[in-house]
Amino acid sequence: MCGIIAAASSRNVGKLLVQGLHRMEYRGYDSAGIALHQDEGVVHLRTLGKVKLLEEKMIQEKPRSKLGIAHTRWATHGEPSEINAHPHKSSERIYIVHNGIIENHVELKKELEEKGYAFTSQTDSELIAHLIELYLQDSSSFIDAIYKAKKRLEGAYAIAVLDYQDPNSIVVARHKSPLLIGLGTDENLAASDPLAIAQLTNEFIFLEDGDVARISSDSYEIFDTNQASVQRAITKLDITSQATSKGDYRHFMEKEIYEQPEAILNTIDGRVGAEDVLDNIFGLNSNELFSKVERIQIAACGTSLHAGRVAANWLSSIAGLPCQIDYASEYRYRNPYVDKNSLFITISQSGETADTLAALSYAKEQEYLATVGICNVPTSTLARESDFVLFTNAGPEIGVASTKAFTTQLAGLLLLTLSLAKARGLNPKLRTRVVEALRTLPEVIRDALKLKDQIIEMAPGVASKDNSLFLGRGIFYPVAKEGALKLKEISYIHAEAYPAGELKHGPLALIDEDMPVIALAPESEIAEKLISNLEEVKARGGKLYVFADPSVTMDVKAGRLIHLPKCDFLLTPIVYTIPLQILAYEVALLRGTDIDQPRNLAKSVTVE
Ligand code: M6R
Repeated sequence: MCGIIAAASSRNVGKLLVQGLHRMEYRGYDSAGIALHQDEGVVHLRTLGKVKLLEEKMIQEKPRSKLGIAHTRWATHGEPSEINAHPHKSSERIYIVHNGIIENHVELKKELEEKGYAFTSQTDSELIAHLIELYLQDSSSFIDAIYKAKKRLEGAYAIAVLDYQDPNSIVVARHKSPLLIGLGTDENLAASDPLAIAQLTNEFIFLEDGDVARISSDSYEIFDTNQASVQRAITKLDITSQATSKGDYRHFMEKEIYEQPEAILNTIDGRVGAEDVLDNIFGLNSNELFSKVERIQIAACGTSLHAGRVAANWLSSIAGLPCQIDYASEYRYRNPYVDKNSLFITISQSGETADTLAALSYAKEQEYLATVGICNVPTSTLARESDFVLFTNAGPEIGVASTKAFTTQLAGLLLLTLSLAKARGLNPKLRTRVVEALRTLPEVIRDALKLKDQIIEMAPGVASKDNSLFLGRGIFYPVAKEGALKLKEISYIHAEAYPAGELKHGPLALIDEDMPVIALAPESEIAEKLISNLEEVKARGGKLYVFADPSVTMDVKAGRLIHLPKCDFLLTPIVYTIPLQILAYEVALLRGTDIDQPRNLAKSVTVE
């Protein structure tokens, strides 16, 4: 998704703005641009493609400026092109960068065109620059014009505005799209993502919806939704360069896969005792509230939704709670009936996914007991807007494909299940069993990571095909779905997941020697049935790649059977995810794709 960075400094800012854009590359984008204030005019540079192309333009132009805004764009309205890249301008005075979507852009554009403003792009963003210039004509101050323009905008936005007539400050505004200020030494910054400016400061101010702020090199001022001057809390955050660099790994995704033992440890650390989950780990009085819960509703997207589907199984078998799960993007469109004493749960790595936030805001209007978030980013909107939160503590996840976010979400959801079971007085022995298994989980994951060499050997068999099927049963069906999502998003191989029993009801027709079938066969009552399903695949020439419990034996012919380390069955969904992540990574490596920034995708999807 789009990224914004702005700086007002006592030194040259061109380089630091471009470095900030580089740090936001992981979010996914298609073009980049920058506007830098100089006395003789604004330097305005844009490129289609990677930030390094913009950097090359900067090297040729050699701008010198202490004030600037920059942007990476992920196309929503208008194709990826230089003309549609931000910053957009109105005359040679107002330059803006925008994240989000302006929903009433058609009518506003028409109105502005009728007033004589000429549009050069197909975006919904350019009109913001014209609108500000229009309102400047009858406003007492620049901030006043920003508020007048804001009143007209419907949708979501974070914007940064550079006014050629003001050589000292940048104005920023936020409405339903993340934006923060960074306080530096002899400089102040603004960005949509703290990682963009983490090398420059560890003091951040997270703006609230409706806020407008003016930053200059030695001061800043924030105004609330009513244009009154306000103070917002300064948050100290240490986002170390280690967390945001690849180290010796080839890709962030690879690093994040191998960080999982540590990440899981951080999720459970301080939250479980010797025999049980600790009280109130979701926040003060969460235990008391959990004792009233009779039903669960989950809403999430993508990988986070898969985590929710796994958890539904745990919630019913360990906490005795019925659980409904929805795609966050669909939830509010089905007029959901809310039963009494229902708990609403969202799951999100970023905490900024627009669909998930929209589902949360809809749920807050309904008769839920409370809202609970499982989230990796403590400073996110979701964290702020939920009644109770559990942070997964996985550390920054940079690769677009979620890996450690998923396994730590599962660990967090197990903690939620245990907390609910405890509050309801259910299954004390089972709770102790799960707590003990959770403690050994990092070690089991370490062992699962050692399967890498075996997986590298099987990767060419998948990388050479254009399609693949993933099979699992029961709680392993969502794990199979996660494996398929991982493979398709980074290798561009078409991958579908099925509950193995469904094969004979249609998908079996697809099986031939060009259809690798990746199956999950943990030891359980379902493994035996799954093996019969796999025999059906083998009999039709399908090549089998089976991840299985050491007790499972079967002839996979030219395929491969890989045994996973033993662990408590309840935790196997977490462990079986590991080889699927490694497989997707190794296949994508063979296919030479852009693993950390796969085509068309964004890390944090901040538009609905
Ligand atoms: O930040 P979130 O967990 O809310 O993101 C949800 C999805 O966009 C995300 O999980 C997406 O599916 C990942 N790219 C999958 O690897």
